[in-house]
Amino acid sequence: MKNIILTGDRPTGRLHVGHYVGSLKQRVLLQNEGNYESMFILIADIQALTDNAGNPQKVRDNIIEVMLDYLAVGLDPKKVTFCLQSQISALSELTMYYMNLVTLPRVLRNPTVKSEIKMRGFDDNEEGIPVGFATYPISQAADITAFKANLIPVGDDQEPMIEQTREIVRSFNRTYNTNCLVECKSFLPTNNICMRLPGTDNAKMSKSLNNCIYLSDEDDVIKSKVNSIKSFPRLLNEPGVLDGNIAFIYLDAFSTNDHFKKYYPEFNNLNELKAAYQKGGIGDGTIKKFLCNVMIDTIRPIREKRKELSKDIKSILDILEDGTKKANEYANKTLFEVKNAMGINYDENFKKEQIEKYS
Ligand code: TRP
Repeated sequence: MKNIILTGDRPTGRLHVGHYVGSLKQRVLLQNEGNYESMFILIADIQALTDNAGNPQKVRDNIIEVMLDYLAVGLDPKKVTFCLQSQISALSELTMYYMNLVTLPRVLRNPTVKSEIKMRGFDDNEEGIPVGFATYPISQAADITAFKANLIPVGDDQEPMIEQTREIVRSFNRTYNTNCLVECKSFLPTNNICMRLPGTDNAKMSKSLNNCIYLSDEDDVIKSKVNSIKSFPRLLNEPGVLDGNIAFIYLDAFSTNDHFKKYYPEFNNLNELKAAYQKGGIGDGTIKKFLCNVMIDTIRPIREKRKELSKDIKSILDILEDGTKKANEYANKTLFEVKNAMGINYDENFKKEQIEKYS
């Protein structure tokens, strides 16, 4: 069986380098391998609203921003179907049916949801946790299953969502004695560092914490963000420490041997630099200067392509519209099968059955 690949992002801001190494690069890789039947990328505006109910304009404005990021990193509308969650009504319907297969304690046990609730202060604010927010993994299960996706390229913070989706699939197929839903697995980056790239302050990289480097950042912004990375104070000749060293975490995620050739020819690769750094004699300013070059080299072509693409927004809207149309066909087909399995397609058979019963 060929893969059906699906993944998505909330349109709450531009995408950053954490998205890039954690998931976007993997998507481009999968796209170019071509070993799939279809590949969907979903702009999850419904999910974005689960903690932005009062701010729909923010979500509305970021749909194009996220599309620009997608296309700028090399995702190709000829190979990938881009679609908009709220315009695929089958996803909301599926969510309602799946809700009955998940308990409240199970929903609140999801570790990613738990930490997001903490980060947003929902647990110590009087208004409490929006139900839609606590249950967004169920809606995410609808996203995945509607397309019968089996391979989900995500960062490891999404692993609990994938796990919960598998549970819903099993429960649905068991309860309604069907095999219409397909189990999925995640596709994670092979480089551990890339799974959860920290922000420039070593906390989780997050728009709300203001610690992200964006794929659209200008060179001087990248420079000042890299320079804001904290380093452990030490004398130049003292050994450098790699443990918890954010600049080196970023070098691990982004630097290539080509970068060394171009910007730091004293070393052939990162391992050599690490060994020398640990001996002492290399200052953190030097490391940051190299990291600046690496980050600028990585981001500049993306940013420039993004600028070019933004001159023709109509084409981007058309791509999203066409993709959403195609996505509706897939999702409606699954919804039909789901309702059949549940016996809630109230068709001619239903009429006949009920008339007979009363005659
Ligand atoms: N939860 C994902 C995030 O926060 C976004 C998302 C929505 C998603 N639906 C999805 C990811 C389906 C993978 C599959 O980034």
